[in-house]
Amino acid sequence: MISEYSSDLRPIAAAADEFDDIAKLHELQYLHSAAMSTLRLKFEVLNGEFQLQHAKNPIHHIESRLKSPASMASKLKKYGHAVTVSDAKEYLNDIAGVRVVCRFLEDVYDVEKAFMRQEDVKLIEREDYIAHPNFNGYRSLHLDVEIPVYLSSTIEYARAEIQIRTVAMDFWASLEHDLRYKGTKNIPAHISREMYDCAAEIARIDKKMQQMYYEIQSL
Ligand code: GTP
Ligand code: MG
Repeated sequence: MISEYSSDLRPIAAAADEFDDIAKLHELQYLHSAAMSTLRLKFEVLNGEFQLQHAKNPIHHIESRLKSPASMASKLKKYGHAVTVSDAKEYLNDIAGVRVVCRFLEDVYDVEKAFMRQEDVKLIEREDYIAHPNFNGYRSLHLDVEIPVYLSSTIEYARAEIQIRTVAMDFWASLEHDLRYKGTKNIPAHISREMYDCAAEIARIDKKMQQMYYEIQSL
């Protein structure tokens, strides 16, 4: 299976006919792709300003993806909701997904702070998988937010899931995702343990890189 973040080119119509109202589904997708562009721009602006003020680029790169109708439908079913546009809008926080990949550990929280200070960004849920890694070692800071999207005659509100992580965390997460979806779903226990150990090792390296950065700065 391809990572959802590389699936932007998948045909938008796939599984769309499972939904109750195709025209409304397209409006929902447009709203969330607009929210995605707005969010990407917010992070680009922050990165540019950090460059200007502090001569550093905390953000290495930004990725984004719009959840496909097939993926929306399966998540709705998984949680016992109806495959309708209104349930998708009400229950799915991650129709729009933005991944902000930072260089250093402190950049993750600096970027979060600068972003959350913005008046039009409302926090829905914060999950800090860096302070509290997942059972398998996954690390990332997840912010589910809601932002306004200004349309021609109305203001609509759209939610998005933002993942902020370091390059090192991103390296682990993308390979773990590939391994999980490559062959069998039942990964042998020793491989799960090794993946967990790799995540811990990567976290140790992230801390070391951060310390070296501080040390060089103080010279
Ligand atoms: P679900 O999407 O149903 O899992 O619910 P949720 O949105 O509450 O889940 P969560 O916020 O924990 O994770 C959402 C996204 O984070 C996933 O779609 C992945 O992109 C990423 N993610 C979470 N856990 C893992 C993991 O163990 N490995 C990798 N590679 N990515 C993960
Ligand atoms: Mg989530």
